[in-house]
Amino acid sequence: MKYVIGVDLGTSSVKVILVDQKGTVLSTVSEDYPLIQPQPGYSEQNPEEWVEKTIVALKRLVDESGVVPDDIEGLSFSGQMHGLVLLDEHHQVIRNAILWNDTRTTPQCKKLDQQLGGKLLEITKNPALEGFTLPKILWVKENEPENLQKTSVFLLPKDYLRYRLTGAIHMDYSDAAGTLLLDVVNKSWSTDILRTFELPASICPPLVETADFVGTILAEIAERTGLSPATKVFAGGADNACGAIGAGILSEGTALCSIGTSGVFLSYENDKNKNFGGKVHLFNHGQRDSYYTMGVTLAAGYSLSWFKDTFADGQSFNELLEEAASSEIGANGLVFTPFLVGERTPYADAKIRATFTGIDSSHKKGDFTRAVMEGIVFSINESVGIFRNYGKTIDTVISIGGGAKSDLWLQIQADIFNAKVVKLQSEQGPGLGAAMIAAVGLEWFTGLKECADRFIQTGQVYEPKPENVQRYKEYYQVYKDIYPHTVAINHQLFDLRNKK
Ligand code: XUL
Repeated sequence: MKYVIGVDLGTSSVKVILVDQKGTVLSTVSEDYPLIQPQPGYSEQNPEEWVEKTIVALKRLVDESGVVPDDIEGLSFSGQMHGLVLLDEHHQVIRNAILWNDTRTTPQCKKLDQQLGGKLLEITKNPALEGFTLPKILWVKENEPENLQKTSVFLLPKDYLRYRLTGAIHMDYSDAAGTLLLDVVNKSWSTDILRTFELPASICPPLVETADFVGTILAEIAERTGLSPATKVFAGGADNACGAIGAGILSEGTALCSIGTSGVFLSYENDKNKNFGGKVHLFNHGQRDSYYTMGVTLAAGYSLSWFKDTFADGQSFNELLEEAASSEIGANGLVFTPFLVGERTPYADAKIRATFTGIDSSHKKGDFTRAVMEGIVFSINESVGIFRNYGKTIDTVISIGGGAKSDLWLQIQADIFNAKVVKLQSEQGPGLGAAMIAAVGLEWFTGLKECADRFIQTGQVYEPKPENVQRYKEYYQVYKDIYPHTVAINHQLFDLRNKK
């Protein structure tokens, strides 16, 4: 039997999985690393941590699986999107990576809008948002000009990791789409945008397809991980593209809800010219010449882990979820908005912050936990609403990530989305997508669809319950009213806190 490895470089950890030719997952290992938050709104990581933790995870995977290293034929990646890694002429990291959930770049986004206007949406298919990469480059240019001067190339997180494992520098289209520098339809770096901001084209890495072969494992890495130096490495893709691949979202009419650190509602899109007015993102898919659109909740799973760490540190997630199950629909009149780090879809507001509304002296911790779980799904439902308003039919949704690990949370999704929610039999998230990319790169299959038919089996279906759907509609109305009623005071608080 032959094997592939999927490496999923996430925001809180790296997860590596070993998969055989039938799609059976033999082993998984994950290793955590911290977020660096020097100021409110800042979110960074040290790229060296990604590399070291990935090497440790790969070594454990090889050792624990007991598989003969020569039988592991290929490896590919899924990566947290948008994070800026700057390399100097010797390919040394210049500063910490600035991540997708860092919101320091509001002034740079305004500048992008002023200088490019409608052209930005035309070329990149996306508006200027704080999380994307170009505003981060412009922030460095304004605030740390010496660092941009030293830059010979910029990379995204998984591209840097791949570089360290292979010695080769590339970026794939699905991740490049999230930089705001890619001409999404023509699949090339936009000279127009680069010129507008006086950025040298030489800082943009060579572009490749997700399943392109880019090299083999360096001898030193092979020695440290136990992998064979002949292991073939394929480019890999953005975590949301890989999540979609690993859930079989490869044709029109399929949709995905992923609750990881961020929450994503994603729908396959054939028509690259479809216009959602920039209200949801449109990115190149990991499947050649196809696309997906998505809306993003910045703090989804992150809201629940923040709640646990802050108020229930000694408890397990399972205990918390049990308490939440004993609460009611609407958490006994308690509503949470998950804007802990600002919000992307639909508000694009870096200064908004989270709220619990309706706190009553009778409320127990279980009500708060349930309110957090429901608030996350209400927020994702705002993206579902946008898709429906633009004429997309959303009647069945594949659910992955932390949100797919609890029956209660899956039923909440079905009732709030008013759609069938389907769980996968063996859900591995974006890591499986990465492994599938390697399997296709190795030509085990003719394409991702054939691989998905072999690797992915759907499991339990959660039907929306009409009486729950009705009750949630009422709470959702209240949820939607909270943003306009709290935006001004939240901005005031944000400014007060950041006053020097
Ligand atoms: C997508 C986004 C997040 C990250 C999480 O635009 O910012 O979903 O990809 O890793």
